[in-house]
Amino acid sequence: MALFTLENLYFKSRNQEIIRGVNLEIEKGSVVGLTGKSGGGKSTLLKLIAGILVPSSGKVLYEGVDIQSMNNIKNKEFRRKCAFVFQDSALWANQDIQQNLNLPLQTHNPDMTYSQRLERIHEICSIVKYDRSLQLRPADLSMGEQKRIAFARALINNPEVLFLDECTESLDRKGVEVIMSLLNSFVNEGKTVIYVSHSSVFITSLAGKVLVIEEGQLSE
Ligand SMILES: Nc1ncnc2c1ncn2[C@@H]1O[C@H](COP(=O)(O)OP(=O)(O)O)[C@@H](O)[C@H]1O
Ligand SMILES: [Mg+2]
Repeated sequence: MALFTLENLYFKSRNQEIIRGVNLEIEKGSVVGLTGKSGGGKSTLLKLIAGILVPSSGKVLYEGVDIQSMNNIKNKEFRRKCAFVFQDSALWANQDIQQNLNLPLQTHNPDMTYSQRLERIHEICSIVKYDRSLQLRPADLSMGEQKRIAFARALINNPEVLFLDECTESLDRKGVEVIMSLLNSFVNEGKTVIYVSHSSVFITSLAGKVLVIEEGQLSE
């Protein structure tokens, strides 16, 4: 069974059809890229697969189960396993870095103690090579640092699937190197990456299937 199955997926907003009849299977352990012109529907499709947006019609199945029909327990497990790195990082502006990383950890691991969580936060910060204070807020960080913290937040609960929307945009060279090596080891562990990118360097360095989306429809 495919990890994700998209069945005749449509998404409409303000009477505009943004996604128009997408069918797709994504296998566990694969790397799938979505590319295409700006405004073509890449981000919308990525968010539909991740369950962040709700389709107007059609279905997204995760391990054969419609995301929209999952009960609370299954939905929470789905959300732990599938992590999203947003194009604009989308960190919580009124929380410091420690709080930004603590929140998903606490949500999914209520039994962890404060010191266990802090240890995991330090560990994930070292993986993304963030060595500044945990008491800074997102606005105190460069865009590249914010993006690395967004990765840390996505990876903190050991997800099975990573969704990436233009994740190397606004990254400096150091950031790109850190993220690429991190993604390569993620894929080598047999995990799944579904990404949107304009960058041909990014697309060629992450092997995998690349799909083009134009006016809400897929072509290979
Ligand atoms: N929530 C929304 N409401 C209305 N229109 C939207 C919404 N989200 C995206 N759009 C429109 O849908 C189209 C596709 O957007 P998007 O998925 O962001 O494309 P891409 O990521 O390929 O640039 C664009 O025309 C955009 O303006
Ligand atoms: Mg986009």
